[in-house]
Amino acid sequence: MTSLNQAPAGVPLVALAQIADGGFAEVEAAIDGVPESLILYREGDAARAWLNVCPHAGRRLDWAPGQFLKSKDGLLVCAVHGASFELAAGQCVAGPCRGEALRAVAVEVRAGMVMLP
Ligand code: FES
Repeated sequence: MTSLNQAPAGVPLVALAQIADGGFAEVEAAIDGVPESLILYREGDAARAWLNVCPHAGRRLDWAPGQFLKSKDGLLVCAVHGASFELAAGQCVAGPCRGEALRAVAVEVRAGMVMLP
């Protein structure tokens, strides 16, 4: 039950336990009212999210829905032309859009769920 004093409950996206530690998941969610595909990345008890849109040519980064490439150096690699992104801020550190970045989406983990706040 909600009351006027309660903060909005947020939008649950996926259980954190569904994502391997150091792994990725893809979810669909409305961001600013627009349906978007999101990349979720789990690091221990935390999660980060970015729009699943590569700054190089605007394509999805996964080679099949939810299947993302991670290099041996721990970079997220776009399946289309190989742009490589570090996973702290989503900066492209190698490849055709070096210096650009994925668009971050704020998420939080509450009660074991990754949520939009
Ligand atoms: S669209 Fe991602 S590297 Fe070209």
